[in-house]
Amino acid sequence: MLKALSLLLLVGTTRGEFTVLERRDSPPSGFSRVGPSPSDTVLNLRLAALTQNNISGLHDTVYEVSTPGNSRYSQYLSKEKVEAFVAPSKETLNGVNAWLKTNNLTSSPITAAGDWIAVSLTVSQANALLAAGFSTFQNTESNQTVHRTLSYSIPAALRTGINMTKLSTVTNRSSPTTSISSDCPDNWTPTCIQALYGVPSTPATPAANAFGVCGFNNEFADEKDLTAFLETYRPDIASNTTFSLISIDDGINNQLPSGAEENPTIGLQYALGLATGIPVAFISTGTGSTDSIDVFTAFLDEPNYLLSLAQPPQTVVQTFDSVGFKFESSFTPQLAESICHLLYAQLAARGVSYIVNGGDFGACNPFSSTGCRAWDVAIGGHLWGRLFQHFYDKVVSEYLNAIDATDASPFNISRRAVPDISALAHSPLIFQGQTVSGQSGTVFSATIFASMIALLNNERIAAGKSSLGFLNPLIYQNPGAFNDFATGWDPVTGFGSPSYAKLREICQKI
Ligand SMILES: *[C@@H]1O[C@H](CO)[C@@H](O)[C@H](O)[C@H]1NC(C)=O
Ligand SMILES: *[C@@H]1O[C@H](CO)[C@@H](O)[C@H](O)[C@H]1NC(C)=O
Ligand SMILES: *[C@@H]1O[C@H](CO)[C@@H](O)[C@H](O)[C@H]1NC(C)=O
Ligand SMILES: *[C@@H]1O[C@H](CO)[C@@H](O)[C@H](O)[C@H]1NC(C)=O
Ligand SMILES: *[C@@H]1O[C@H](CO)[C@@H](O)[C@H](O)[C@H]1NC(C)=O
Ligand SMILES: *[C@@H]1O[C@H](CO)[C@@H](O)[C@H](O)[C@H]1NC(C)=O
Ligand SMILES: *[C@@H]1O[C@H](CO)[C@@H](O)[C@H](O)[C@H]1NC(C)=O
Repeated sequence: MLKALSLLLLVGTTRGEFTVLERRDSPPSGFSRVGPSPSDTVLNLRLAALTQNNISGLHDTVYEVSTPGNSRYSQYLSKEKVEAFVAPSKETLNGVNAWLKTNNLTSSPITAAGDWIAVSLTVSQANALLAAGFSTFQNTESNQTVHRTLSYSIPAALRTGINMTKLSTVTNRSSPTTSISSDCPDNWTPTCIQALYGVPSTPATPAANAFGVCGFNNEFADEKDLTAFLETYRPDIASNTTFSLISIDDGINNQLPSGAEENPTIGLQYALGLATGIPVAFISTGTGSTDSIDVFTAFLDEPNYLLSLAQPPQTVVQTFDSVGFKFESSFTPQLAESICHLLYAQLAARGVSYIVNGGDFGACNPFSSTGCRAWDVAIGGHLWGRLFQHFYDKVVSEYLNAIDATDASPFNISRRAVPDISALAHSPLIFQGQTVSGQSGTVFSATIFASMIALLNNERIAAGKSSLGFLNPLIYQNPGAFNDFATGWDPVTGFGSPSYAKLREICQKI
């Protein structure tokens, strides 16, 4: 089941045979086909017209500016310079527009660089344009319906390839190395995490620095719960410390009593509870369409919004639970690739440290990799393919040697290694509905690590240096900054859990 909203059309001309761009034989589990979509239903397609821009130049630049020791390290690019890499050529745009015009359609750019365009059209127009058969599919659990096609085609001459990239993930588990209260193991609080990973509790020196916590699907956190959390677990800071709101696609934060959700609750309570003194923005991305279970649009619009800013937040944590993903188990490799390879790569070139959770049941986040079988179809490709593969090749082969295997489940050795590192996922105490509860998940891990990076970015900026940007080159150069269970990298904990003191020492040197 493929999502037209996110078609990736890499186009250059309008002539030639049609070629099937994506196809699957049946809908993913959890969905059943109800019938053809009504022909006058309006779809909003998002197209990436990418031919002949300089993606390899962008990726080379990301590698250089993100690798400690490189002469260009931390010399991030301006918005305009990054856009120049991804802007489509005139020929490409002319080709797309001519193709749309023969179908009586027009497009409008949705990014400053013009590499993503939007086309509004009816189901019957989309079926003709893409040789597709849009149908209504129903989710068997929620009864929600979506309009999707099991295959679509574009003129053969318009097709090119694209690769996928990958950013940091964190997952379950940690290795306590510091003396911590005996209450902590079942009841983690900010104080426990500060002791466990050496996170400072003194407020950060104010610097021009911000920390974004992403929310999707109109999920938000209750502000009264945040206040109660800070009063209880951070009595040393002002309990009215709160977050600012950035709303994308009408993402809400309406504070209705019934609406607060666990993900942003963990994310915001621990971001504010750990990144002491750092301004936190809650980046709430709505569904952006009438399609109520659409998560694709949000995954495009959220990084595109950050890229539109003259100065995006230097640290961003994107957490999403596998429950949300269940609705979109058709997240295609092409879409994940385009988001990672284009949008996250641009954020990396701008110096943003973008941290993604791995998912609680393995690497369910489409931007992490293997592990979650349901996502095998959706993922594919080489994450950070050509560019960063050597990091992963080296650590994976060391791991395989250590365990004397050539093909180690649970991960696919021809793909990128996940996770990079790990952090505690178990039983953080949070306030929900004014009562304390404990919730586990990699949302917690990702928030802990991102809060540490937000503090480290702040220290660097306060010292007149640049933010840390894309973190993997630094992580893979410095496995010693992580407390590992075993020697080297492994597919459960990556390099292990972060030590603030060790990371800080590295950050002061580079
Ligand atoms: C692509 O970018 C690289 C790195 O900035 C540059 O060296 C190269 O000349 C660019 N190529 C084109 C075709 O613009
Ligand atoms: C486009 O519009 C013209 C004029 O209304 C019409 O003749 C033609 O059939 C349309 N083409 C398509 C593909 O809908
Ligand atoms: C879905 O529809 C079925 C049949 O009408 C109904 O029994 C069930 O309660 C609905 N489920 C939800 C979550 O609305
Ligand atoms: C994608 O990667 C493959 C090999 O990893 C390479 O041959 C191909 O040129 C890449 N495509 C793009 C668009 O970068
Ligand atoms: C994650 O942590 C929980 C609680 O400690 C544990 O039950 C579970 O087995 C862990 N999962 C992995 C993959 O380590
Ligand atoms: C927090 O409370 C203090 C006084 O207790 C006040 O001075 C400050 O302005 C408040 N800050 C916010 C953001 O409301
Ligand atoms: C492993 O990943 C490669 C590259 O994405 C893919 O071609 C292959 O089918 C995968 N193998 C399994 C067993 O999933």
